[in-house]
Amino acid sequence: MARLDPHSYNDSTQPETETLDWKARVDFRTRRLHAEATLTLKEASAGPLDLDTRDLDIRGVVDDQGRPLPYILSPPEPILGSRLRIELPEGVKQLTVRYRTSPEASALQWLTPSQTAGGQQPFLFSQCQAIHARSVVPLQDTPRIRIRYRASLRVPKGLKSVMAASFVAREEHGVEAEEHYEMPQPVPPYLLAFAVGSLTSKELGPRSRVWAEPEALEDAADEFAGVDDMLKAAESLFGPYDWERFDLLLMPPSFPYGGMENPRLTFLTPTLIAGDKSLVNVVAHELAHSWTGNLVTNASAEHFWLNEGFTVFAERRILEALAGPEVAALHAALGRRSLDEALHHFRAHPQLTALRTHLSGVDPDEAFSQIPYEKGYLLLRALEDAVGRPTFDGFLRRYLAKYRFQALTTEEFVRFTEGELPGALAKVDADAYLNRPGVPESAPRPTSARLEALERLRGKVPSQADTKDWTPTEWQLFLESMPVDTSKDVFRELDAKYALTGSRNSEVLVAWLVAALRAGFDAPLGRAEEFLGEVGRMKYLKPLYSVLASSRDHRKVARAAFEKHGARYHPIARQGVELILARA
Ligand code: BES
Ligand code: ZN
Repeated sequence: MARLDPHSYNDSTQPETETLDWKARVDFRTRRLHAEATLTLKEASAGPLDLDTRDLDIRGVVDDQGRPLPYILSPPEPILGSRLRIELPEGVKQLTVRYRTSPEASALQWLTPSQTAGGQQPFLFSQCQAIHARSVVPLQDTPRIRIRYRASLRVPKGLKSVMAASFVAREEHGVEAEEHYEMPQPVPPYLLAFAVGSLTSKELGPRSRVWAEPEALEDAADEFAGVDDMLKAAESLFGPYDWERFDLLLMPPSFPYGGMENPRLTFLTPTLIAGDKSLVNVVAHELAHSWTGNLVTNASAEHFWLNEGFTVFAERRILEALAGPEVAALHAALGRRSLDEALHHFRAHPQLTALRTHLSGVDPDEAFSQIPYEKGYLLLRALEDAVGRPTFDGFLRRYLAKYRFQALTTEEFVRFTEGELPGALAKVDADAYLNRPGVPESAPRPTSARLEALERLRGKVPSQADTKDWTPTEWQLFLESMPVDTSKDVFRELDAKYALTGSRNSEVLVAWLVAALRAGFDAPLGRAEEFLGEVGRMKYLKPLYSVLASSRDHRKVARAAFEKHGARYHPIARQGVELILARA
């Protein structure tokens, strides 16, 4: 037995899946998918085939002739789920599993009409990263293995499905529609993604359209109008875009992330709709994953920094190309703040603050933090600074060319980099980033004129002249840098002058609410409570619940808000908030 990924039952001595044929009927009444998954293996090999599953109700397994195959579904383990072991006879390389998903499938969120923008139709979406695909399809749920797939979804005729794949056709039969998709590029299972709801779309450019509920479509199209310029900027930095289309899907508010890089169809939180395009760095980030993550993929969650650190680096290069180095530096400074906070948060688990993690027995959702993002970014910046930008750009291109449509480990990254940039890893003390906790003293520090101006105003009430050119990112940085002991008068004056409690920019609003409540300025408490009922994005729920839970007076406000809204949060978000409240 050789299990190379601590989060999968996949045994690397067994044959790999080459293609998946997936058929599912979406039943909103019972909150189940009634489905059939046909796996075609790269080669036939008699013996056991181990698949990952979670909460699947397995109805039967047959070979390509329809003959039943023996299988054993093991009792679930806490993080991995249940191993489905199928005994393959000589010569069989295709098998079909008939099953249905659980209403509690960890990758799916079923929304009632009242949880959508339109309020009339239900909505369903998937979120498979890191190890939730197994709750939707029985498969080898490790990013070491890439599959091509075809899929067909049967949905109520009044609804539209979308998938992170190429649309083939829609047929209507009776009260249902069947929609067919094809994914010609091989992808790791965590990139399987779909959504069903009242969805319409608008063209944004030759390779992009945005999907949203009709009520939200125009605002989304305005916010993301610049996506084609972003694609062009990214291509000029990282080479041709390999996924043909870059469509966007505006999610309902309970989507737990800012964005998810589902290939051909990035999922985005509606909290990005600020009205002024100020949060589109998230789009740049998900687009950058088209190279770093989707094309060159981490071999397991233990090497997650290879996805996210490279992507943050690429995101800031795109930002720099489109908006200039000052803007990129502001984002790097925000990143450094969030890194320091995460290091503090994980101080009791220093081993989780190294880039290369060891996660046997650890749930990737619980290990998730900004560390792989921002410490990974700093390592790549340090390397870039050490060898110079032109050399580093060449390195990046060769890295992408060498590992495209493959997965790699941190150790392979080290070997490759050592060969390409001899001595560079030692020069920046890469081992300290990769294998040791914390951040090296020598790590690059973002510097810029705008950052220095902000630093001078720290803890003060800036004048209208100071703030007249501020972008929302500067407001966010200013607010996140407020000393904990800032007097309440400063907060009162700030709100009176700049109406921060009324901010439409979700990043500014959350930075304001957290800073104010942390300092004991309670006037925006009502807005905080209200906001906890408007969004489900973990990046906002976690700090808001944490700051409320850390004060004796506000703990009951936090509990009451969770009581009221918890059922509407995504299961992953609910779990995160529960943990915060349990520790309070
Ligand atoms: N791939 C991640 C989201 C993710 C990570 C989902 C791990 C599940 C498990 C996505 O690309 C991401 O990083 N989103 C960020 C965007 C930000 C860094 C610009 C987010 O959601 O905030
Ligand atoms: Zn990412």
